[in-house]
Amino acid sequence: MIPFNKPVHLGTELSAMAEAILKNGHVAGGGPFGKRCEAMLEKMLELRTLLVTSCTHALEMAALLLEVGPGDEFIVPSYTFVSTANAFVLRGAKPVFADVDAHGNLDLAHVERLLGPRTKAVLVVHYAGNSCDMEALLKLCGQVPVVEDAAQALSASFDGRPLGTFGVCSAFSFHETKNIGCGEGGALTLKDPNLVDRAEYLRDKGTNRRKFQSGLVDKYTWVDVGSSYVLSDLNAAYLSTQLEALARIQHRRREIYSAYEAALAEPVERMGGYLIQGSARNTGNQHLFAIVLRQPEHRAQYIAHMRKHDIIAPFHYVALHQSPMGQRFHDGSRLPNSERLTTNLVRLPLFFNMTDAERDEVIGRTLEFLRAL
Ligand SMILES: Cc1ncc(COP(=O)(O)O)c(C=O)c1O
Repeated sequence: MIPFNKPVHLGTELSAMAEAILKNGHVAGGGPFGKRCEAMLEKMLELRTLLVTSCTHALEMAALLLEVGPGDEFIVPSYTFVSTANAFVLRGAKPVFADVDAHGNLDLAHVERLLGPRTKAVLVVHYAGNSCDMEALLKLCGQVPVVEDAAQALSASFDGRPLGTFGVCSAFSFHETKNIGCGEGGALTLKDPNLVDRAEYLRDKGTNRRKFQSGLVDKYTWVDVGSSYVLSDLNAAYLSTQLEALARIQHRRREIYSAYEAALAEPVERMGGYLIQGSARNTGNQHLFAIVLRQPEHRAQYIAHMRKHDIIAPFHYVALHQSPMGQRFHDGSRLPNSERLTTNLVRLPLFFNMTDAERDEVIGRTLEFLRAL
């Protein structure tokens, strides 16, 4: 069986976790490994970065930091994971769904039509580690804050600048399906230094514990609303090994991705489909390899064909405006690209520990399917 994903396994994760338990004696949040991960992320992104329990929680913190509430609207792509919308819906705000382009990133012309006096924030999702024109988006939004859902975008960039450094804040994911992970985990980057203190309170149950630990205040007390969003140092230990090996992990993903691209781009196009790709201004991170087939039936046939050969090739995202929850907010208008990706897109297995034989089997079975189409 070739699964769609296997969590990255380097072989060094367990000794780092043992070090957290046996040497450091610190497995709760805010320990030495958490600090090490934050330092590595801050070096990459050149922005204050807080390690948190998931990307979903980083997005919830963003909604709290922007003081989103009932009566507010926020613009969000319809073709995304539920958390992008849910984090703001939890605060009582109304999602306004924007369409995406053919490659799954925000359609800026649509965003322009949707911006209005109630728009409290614009959420941009970097689908597949690619992005829309971030410079144009920021210009279009003016004073309206842009929040980046960079769950899929660690080490990807636009015009040479890392994704996750454009918006007022950005959320990354370290879920096991991401390029690097620790089971469940995430990070929040903060562009506005004025948000940092508050973000630390929110993360730590509404307390100023971080300041207390750093000796900046002499009492540790309740200073704001908050929740429990700190990543345990056990998870941070696991994550630190993968952050340190990021270049090696990316190198292997690129090898697999390039082999897929070289073998499949032309045959897919000949059958009326295309590969999900970034623009010339993006440097992608090979987060996922996805094909958009000409017809929904082709996708169902492809998934069945791969399944028959013990290969798992899934699709994802039901456009949010068509979901039972999304329909409660949506005005019923069509969002053609989101709808098309919902029915026609399929993803191929792509993970660090994939063998060359597994990669070649996926390519061979895909070519077999395309030839018979
Ligand atoms: C675009 C996007 N946003 C948010 C998330 C949620 O990430 P997490 O599982 O870390 O909460 C995901 C996870 O798959 C995602 O792909």
